[in-house]
Amino acid sequence: MDGLLKFMTCGSVDDGKSTLIGHMLYDAKLLFADQKHALELESRVGSRAGKTDYSLLLDGLMAEREQGITIDVAYRYFSTEKRSFIVADTPGHEEYTRNMAVGASFADLAVILIDATKGILAQTRRHAGICGLMGIRHFLFAVNKMDLLHYNEKAYCRIEKEIRKLAIDLNLCNVELMPVSATEGDNITSRSWAMPWYKGKTMLGYLETIQIEDGAKEQGFILPIQRVCRPNQSFRGFQGQIEGGVVSVGDQLTVLPSRERVKVQAIFAADQKMNTAKKGQAVTVSLNREVDISRGCVLAKDTELIVSSMFTSKILWMDDMELRQGKNFLIKIGTQMLPVSVMEIKYRIDVNTGEQIATSKLYKNEMAVCDVAASSPVVFDTFEKHKSMGSFILIDRVTNMTSACGVVEHSLRRSENIVWQKLDLTREIRAERMGQKPLTLWFTGLSGSGKSTLANEAEKRLSLGGKYTMLLDGDNIRMGLNRNLGFEPEDRIENIRRIAEVAKLMNDAGLIVLVSFISPYRNDRRIAREIIGEENFVEIYVNTPLEVCEERDVKGLYRKAREGKIPNFTGISSPYEEPEHADLVMNTEGESLDTAVETILRTIAKKESNGLR
Ligand code: ADX
Repeated sequence: MDGLLKFMTCGSVDDGKSTLIGHMLYDAKLLFADQKHALELESRVGSRAGKTDYSLLLDGLMAEREQGITIDVAYRYFSTEKRSFIVADTPGHEEYTRNMAVGASFADLAVILIDATKGILAQTRRHAGICGLMGIRHFLFAVNKMDLLHYNEKAYCRIEKEIRKLAIDLNLCNVELMPVSATEGDNITSRSWAMPWYKGKTMLGYLETIQIEDGAKEQGFILPIQRVCRPNQSFRGFQGQIEGGVVSVGDQLTVLPSRERVKVQAIFAADQKMNTAKKGQAVTVSLNREVDISRGCVLAKDTELIVSSMFTSKILWMDDMELRQGKNFLIKIGTQMLPVSVMEIKYRIDVNTGEQIATSKLYKNEMAVCDVAASSPVVFDTFEKHKSMGSFILIDRVTNMTSACGVVEHSLRRSENIVWQKLDLTREIRAERMGQKPLTLWFTGLSGSGKSTLANEAEKRLSLGGKYTMLLDGDNIRMGLNRNLGFEPEDRIENIRRIAEVAKLMNDAGLIVLVSFISPYRNDRRIAREIIGEENFVEIYVNTPLEVCEERDVKGLYRKAREGKIPNFTGISSPYEEPEHADLVMNTEGESLDTAVETILRTIAKKESNGLR
């Protein structure tokens, strides 16, 4: 028996996908008797006027029946004498590209349905394109509804030509095609008498015999750790599902990302002690010595898994909001979950033509090649070499929704070849010599809210009090370091990232840094907090209402913005997201500058009393 075949079906609405698979199960006698009976009963009221409606078999979801369309990925299992199958039935229309991509990341083969009466549609190209991009290496184009064309060979040949051309356009490999009729059963499980000119295999015959190079390129043993279990003082086990290869007691393993070497002491699977375990099994492994391993680490042997914090990937953007460069997410890759940002959208891929188009934004259902940077080293592989270690999802940090799925193309060498250099003179030593706790006071608020005035005054007081300080002001920094940035969202994201990194360096030098930037996005301020460190970060929201800022209009910018002379002006034509958990909220109306500065100094003293750092 050949191994399990995981395949997916895709086609446009009404192409007859569900009918096709349903008919295959029915003909191959793969239904239980009661299922068959139920099917015959239901068909009396079904859509084929009393004839058996095979699509009812596959339409597992109620909503799908009600709407007459497939709306989610439905997985079905069946076996013939020759092989076992899992089929992912994925939806046909544009809105559900997300589900298509999910199906494609699971499957080894795609059955793409074509309505012979319509030929290749934009949808067909789109589906084949997504499947190809998501790593599917085997395609069966089933040219359906041949009965409606009176089984005409010439009509089939015309479509065949189109498919061959599409396969070349989209760079698809291992393409097979066949004429079928899903409703009548031609070439589904037995050869069609109506199409003697077709000499190839039946659909089931093809699916039963197709050889998939399952994991041929995957090497070695891989165990991503899901859980560390410590039932008592003497036992520490590492649990997870083996993603590749075989492990035996006594094997030397490498712990990634730390690269420490360990030996396998015992293996447990389903509470049984085993000598070996292999791919697909859920195991608990204990090791010969104590090492620091937590969820997300990987135990590996004979693999070339990559440890790097930057990689190039192909992603499918699925969020309603557009993706802009610099945006921050949580990535889930293997069992790891950590913050990443999309550094650069290199180009968008037109899924219909394969064309590469330069862009800095991505909209829903678009596919692109992007560089991704993580906050710390990630263990992964390229998708080509290892499907599960090379695919990931990006999760929106605010909504917790999956915004994108993607596959790793390659690691960015520049990050692999950069090693953190340990210095003898540490931040702690530098801070101690200055006799102060390094802090970053992050002033945020609208233009003209009084951030810079407050920061300036606070710095003077700190300096008089013997502190070593530095003030970073938006307008000034934008004349130098950030001269190349404007006010589009992606520029503001980069503006804030750079300033957070600079503030951190200055904190490393021992200084108390005052940062005065509008920093309008909540997410960016959160990232700044992460870069600088909770311990050293004080967020001060200068909460002057827009009307007051506009009334003051110190630089005359609000007037210009209202006249439409400044695009993307914060508060007018670009949003300001108020802080939800600022350490300090300042109201500059009706409060003297002195009182305000006193409040700031008190907050600093409180933070300082948490100990010198
Ligand atoms: S931020 O949004 O990226 O944090 P930043 O603090 O660096 O902005 O710069 C804001 C200053 O730039 C404002 O105080 C104002 O003087 C000037 N400016 C020019 N154009 C704009 C604009 N479109 N929106 C906001 N500020 C602008």
